[in-house]
Formats: sequence, structure tokens, C-alpha cells
Amino acid sequence: MTTGSAPAKIILFGEHAVVYDQPALAVPVSSLRATASTQPGPAGQGLRILARGLDATLPANVSSDVLDNALTYAASLILNRLHITAPDLTVRIESDIPMASGLGSGAAVSTALIRAVCAAVDAPISNDDLNALVYEVEKLHHGNPSGIDNTVIVYESPVLYKRGAPVQRLSIGRPFMLLIGDTGMGALTRIAVGDVGKLVAADPARYHPVIESIGRIVTQAQAAISAGDIAALGPLMAQNHAALQTLTVSSPELDTLVQAATGAGALGAKLSGGGRGGNMIALVTEATAPAVHQALVDAGAANVFKTVVS
Ligand code: PMV
Repeated sequence: MTTGSAPAKIILFGEHAVVYDQPALAVPVSSLRATASTQPGPAGQGLRILARGLDATLPANVSSDVLDNALTYAASLILNRLHITAPDLTVRIESDIPMASGLGSGAAVSTALIRAVCAAVDAPISNDDLNALVYEVEKLHHGNPSGIDNTVIVYESPVLYKRGAPVQRLSIGRPFMLLIGDTGMGALTRIAVGDVGKLVAADPARYHPVIESIGRIVTQAQAAISAGDIAALGPLMAQNHAALQTLTVSSPELDTLVQAATGAGALGAKLSGGGRGGNMIALVTEATAPAVHQALVDAGAANVFKTVVS
């Protein structure tokens, strides 16, 4: 048996603007993971993938162009790259990352699957090569992904990400604590990204400055995080959330959770990821975390996760 695993992720600052070449900050959430485990066989069946709601077989020599399922597509990409046909292998995927909620579930399951398959056929893969493959799979989910999800998940490291630029590790001057509040409403990032695209194309003079303002918030946040100036992050989160509201990617549920968190003592809060549903994050301390957690639950959060960025 072989296994592969990958973490969830959250975007701290800069989602959506990152699609337009602005920088963004993202961190792994190592306590929430996707794992893939392989068993040999059944004989003559090719590669079988078992996941929640999926039992798909990838026969030998299938062309990757015809695959619209992300997991079979990920498997075909790695087999093509290794120049091998599908081995008789059963891959079981398990994940505790909520789907379609901005936590990178798609990139995490693809990463875990490719790692497990590479181990099963004894072909180690570098993180750089893996990242390029998972980016290809992300295109299926997202249409025009910036590449931030696959990067933070494959390297499992805090990153400052800018499209087309070398990935930079984000330095963390002092650890800080976040609560992740899940609206429980799945939302497709592809649709939110597409809608922002239409907005920007229809009125560039209005929306380009909003995107650029997010870029400046990210630069200030990066400096504050590196310097360990956690208090400075609260107002920056509020500004970033307001800019995302202008880009129409918040939702009444996200706004309610953001208000509940700040009302209960969070230093700041904002939506995280594609928006329209999915998750928000709240900056808390050991002292404020219990009250903010309760406020999020009372305001309708389906799940609340705690994570420490370090
Ligand atoms: O996968 P999500 O929902 O966390 O969103 C990714 C972030 C976006 O900036 C909205 C899209 C992208 O490709 O960067």
C-alpha cells in the first residue's frame, strides 16, 4: 500500500485580484487534509479511483482529452508524463476538507492522488513537477486559475504568490490565530471569477482601481506579517473585504459572519477564496477565540475551524 497526502489552504489576502497579476498571500491548513491510498488490483482493470460519490475506472491508453472528471484527469496526466499505461491499482481518496468552499479541496485531492500513484509505481515526483500537473487539473475546476491554490497546497508553505513570478515563501514574524467560518453554502470559484471578469471588462475605469487597491493591501499585509505586527492586519482585512464586496463576490451569509466575528471581538475578518459562499476568516487571539467561535455558530456558520499561521 502507498499513500499520498496534502493540506487544505486559505487565502489571507488578495483573492480575485491575483487573477489580474496582483500579489496574494495564502497559507496551508495542515490540520485539514486529503489523503489517497493505493492497493494493487483488481487484475486487468486498470486504475480504479474511489472517492465520495465517485467510482471511476481509468482504462489503459485512454486519451486525457476525453476526461472531464478531475480525479481521472489527474491520474491520466501523471501516467502520460511517466509514459506508462494505467497499472492495475485501486486508489481510495478520503478528505476532511469541505468541497467548493475556498479551502482548496480540488487541488488537495489531486495532489494526494498523484503522490500516491507515483509512490505505487516507484516514480518519485518533485514538487515543481507536481505543481505544474495540479495546475492543469485546476483549469478543469476554475477555467482561469491564478495558480495560487496548487502552489500553497503542493509546497505546504505560506506563500506570497504573483502570477508569472517565482514563488516566494511568506515569512511570519509572529504566529497568529484564525478562525475559519464556513457558510455551508458551496459556490463555484469558476463562476465568481467569470463574473468579476465581466464586471472588469464592462467598466475597467471603475474596477481596475479596486483590483490595484487590493494589491496595495496585500503588500502592506505582507510587511505587517513579516514584522509580526498582527494588530495592523485587522483594518487591512476590513479594507480587503470591502473591496471584494465592490467586486460582487461577497454574499449576505459571508457579510453576516464577518460582522458577527468583528462584533464578538475579532481583530478583523474577511471572506476567503472565491466568495459568494464558502468561507470567511477571522483574526483572533486565545482570549477572543471562544466568543468569536460562538458568535460565528450563532450567526449560522455550518463549521468553524481554528488554525494557527506560523
Ligand atoms: O479556490 P478558492 O475558492 O479559494 O479561490 C481561489 C482564489 C481566486 O483568486 C478567487 C481564484 C484564483 O484562481 O486565484
